[in-house]
Amino acid sequence: MASQSSRRQFLNATIAVGASAFAAPAILRGQGLNEKLHVGVIGCGGRGAGNLESVLGETVVALCDVNRNAVDYASGKAKGAKTFTDYRKMYDALQVGEYDAVVVSTTEHTHAFATLPALQAKKHVYCEKPLTHNVREARIITEAAKAAGVATQMGTQIHAGDNYRRVVELVQGGAIGAISEVHVWVGRAWGLQSPDEARAHGDIVSVQNRPEGSSPLPPNLDWDLWLGPAPERPFHEVYFPGPKWYRWWDFGNGTMSDLGSHWIDLPFWAMNLDAPKTIEPFGGPAHPELAPASMHVKYEYAARGDRGPLALTWYQGTHKPDVWQKGTIPRWDSGVLFVGSAGQLLADYGRHQLLFGPNVNDFKRPPQTIPPSIGHHAEWIHACKTGAPTTCHFGYAGPLTEANHLGNVAYRAGKKLEWDAVNMKFPNAPEAEQYLGREYRKGWMLG
Ligand SMILES: NC(=O)c1ccc[n+]([C@@H]2O[C@H](COP(=O)([O-])OP(=O)(O)OC[C@H]3O[C@@H](n4cnc5c(N)ncnc54)[C@H](O)[C@@H]3O)[C@@H](O)[C@H]2O)c1
Repeated sequence: MASQSSRRQFLNATIAVGASAFAAPAILRGQGLNEKLHVGVIGCGGRGAGNLESVLGETVVALCDVNRNAVDYASGKAKGAKTFTDYRKMYDALQVGEYDAVVVSTTEHTHAFATLPALQAKKHVYCEKPLTHNVREARIITEAAKAAGVATQMGTQIHAGDNYRRVVELVQGGAIGAISEVHVWVGRAWGLQSPDEARAHGDIVSVQNRPEGSSPLPPNLDWDLWLGPAPERPFHEVYFPGPKWYRWWDFGNGTMSDLGSHWIDLPFWAMNLDAPKTIEPFGGPAHPELAPASMHVKYEYAARGDRGPLALTWYQGTHKPDVWQKGTIPRWDSGVLFVGSAGQLLADYGRHQLLFGPNVNDFKRPPQTIPPSIGHHAEWIHACKTGAPTTCHFGYAGPLTEANHLGNVAYRAGKKLEWDAVNMKFPNAPEAEQYLGREYRKGWMLG
C-alpha cells in the first residue's frame, strides 16, 4: 500500500480511530435520570448476548429465546427477569406498565414480528440490523415507529464511532467537490460459493443446495418457534446458528442486507440518500434458496437537496470496483470510495484517506461539527428517557434497509428495475414485486 500511496498524491490524512470508539458503550448514568428503564430482551444468544450486556445498567424484566440454554445463560446476568421461549407469549404476559422497551436480536426473518407488537404498544425498540427481512416489512415497521413516536435505534453501532463523523463532515463540507459516484465493497461474504471462495471470504460453511434429511435437534432448541413465519423444514445444522442462516432467502438475505447495513450506512448518511430511482444487478443467475456470495449492484439516485444525481455501486465477494482491480486506489479489504469533482475519499469502519488532485496543499480540514456519540446503545437509552433523537432511528434505518433489500430484489429478478418507492412498484418489471415480501406460514400474521 505504501508504494501505491507514493504513486499518488495522497493527503497525509489517514486517520486511524482507536478501537475504543466501537467498544460496547457505557450505559448512561449520572444525568439526573434516576428512573431505570424496564427492558425486555428478545434473542439472548449470539449478538443478543452483547446487546443484553449493554442494557444491564437498566432493569431487565423479561428474557425470551427459542433456545432455553440462551435464556438460562441470560438469567444469570439479569436475575429476576421473567423468562419466555415465545415472544408472543411474552407480550401477552407482560402488563402494559411492566415494561418500557425491548431489544430485538433474533434472526432477520423474525425481526419485524418481534418488533411490531412493541411499537403498537408504544414501547421503545432497539432492533439489530437489518431492520427487517424484506422491503414490505421495512415499510411497515418504519410507519409503525413513526405512528408510535417512541425511541428507536437499529443496531448499526459503527455509526456511533468518530470515523464516520469525520467522513460525513468532509463529504458535506465539499472537501472533494461535487460527488457523482460512490463505490462500496466488502471482503467478507456469506452465501452460495465454492469451499475455496468461502475460505477466502471468511465464511464458515459452503452450501450449494438444501440438504436432504435432518440433523439431531440441539437439546433445548424449539425449532418450530425458530422457524416462526418461515416455511416448515426439518432442522439441519446448515441453518443454525448465525451466521449459517444468513444465506437462506427464507431466513436472511446474505451479505447485501447484513454488511450493507453497516457499510452503505456511511454514504446514506453522508449523501442524504433515500429511495433509489433504479437498481441494476450484475452476476447471477440467482439460486432459488440461497443468496449469492459474489455479485454487484448499481443504484441510481435522483438529485436531492444540495447534491446532484448519484450512482452508488455495491460489490460483494469476488466482485470489486475497477479502480480496486487495477490498483489505482489502495486495495483495502472493504471500503467506501467517494468520487468527487475535486478528489476522492476512501473510508472503512475506522480510518479514512483523502486521495487528492493537484490542490492538495490548499486543503483545510473542516471543523468537527458532528458531536461525538455517547455510544450507540446509550444514545437509545438516553432517548427512551428524555425524548432526545437517536442517529439510527427507524425513520433513517427503514429506508436504508429497503435500499439494501432492493439490491437483492434486482439480483433475483435478474434485470435493471425502476423503483416507484411511494407505491412500492416496479413499473418496468411487475414480476419482480414478488421479492418485496413473502408469504407467511399458516398461523403467522404481521400486525
Ligand atoms: N450489529 C452487529 O455488528 C451484529 C453482529 C452480529 C449479528 N448481528 C445481527 O444480530 C442478529 C442475530 O444474529 P446472530 O448472528 O447473533 O444470530 P444467532 O442465530 O447466533 O443468535 C440469535 C439468537 O436469537 C435467538 N432466536 C432466534 N429466533 C428467535 C425467536 N424467534 N425468538 C427468540 N429468540 C430467537 C437464538 O436462539 C439466538 O440465541 C441478526 O440480525 C444479525 O444480523 C449484528
